[in-house]
Amino acid sequence: MKLHDMRRQYERNGLDERIMPEDPFSLFGLWFEEAVAAHAHEANAVVLATLSGSRPSARVVLLKEISEGGFVFFTNYESRKGKELKNNPFAAMLFYWPELERQVRIEGKVVRISREASEEYFNSRPERSRLSAIISPQSQPVGSREELENAAGQFLQSGRPLQMPDYWGGYKLIPDKVEFWQGRPDRLHDRVLYELVSENKWQRMRLAP
Ligand SMILES: Cc1cc2nc3c(=O)[nH]c(=O)nc-3n(C[C@H](O)[C@H](O)[C@H](O)COP(=O)(O)O)c2cc1C
Repeated sequence: MKLHDMRRQYERNGLDERIMPEDPFSLFGLWFEEAVAAHAHEANAVVLATLSGSRPSARVVLLKEISEGGFVFFTNYESRKGKELKNNPFAAMLFYWPELERQVRIEGKVVRISREASEEYFNSRPERSRLSAIISPQSQPVGSREELENAAGQFLQSGRPLQMPDYWGGYKLIPDKVEFWQGRPDRLHDRVLYELVSENKWQRMRLAP
């Protein structure tokens, strides 16, 4: 297969910056609903990029909430991403919904959500997911799969409650830039960037594709 020859025409939709909503959250909500309706595979899966010094790293996480002007995901605070966010709270998120020929790029500052809100979500997770979060020293080397399975088995046998550990919880990315990208024919795509210019005031501009 020659990658050079892989080429699709994008012709589903368009974007007009003159008639778009004032803030990016309502448009994001609409696009998200449309992605779900189009049966996008794991529509809430998002690439999260963080920084260690000047070296970026990226991984997928699941968006679990859009609340108070931010995008919430859950993870281990001592993971690689957790350590990177501690040193540098700025991050980027990227959604790609190929079914709709759409991409959304989000940038901003990441803060931890409250422990109560994290606990509420943690306690709503299936028992086995809670167990894995407790016993997995995320991003650390482990000797083998058995080591993890044994740790899970031992925890269960100990009868200890599946409580959220201190090293686990939610983060909220509070955006100051959100760019909506809609694929168009002949690579003349639509891009509209929302930029936060003062509190709650977003300015939008078209970018060249
Ligand atoms: C579809 C998908 C969803 C994922 N969701 C999460 C998630 O919500 N939270 C999380 O910590 N890791 C999630 N992961 C695993 C991360 O991509 C990553 O392996 C893990 O968080 C460790 O990353 P780090 O070492 O950079 O901290 C997911 C992976 C995939 C492929």
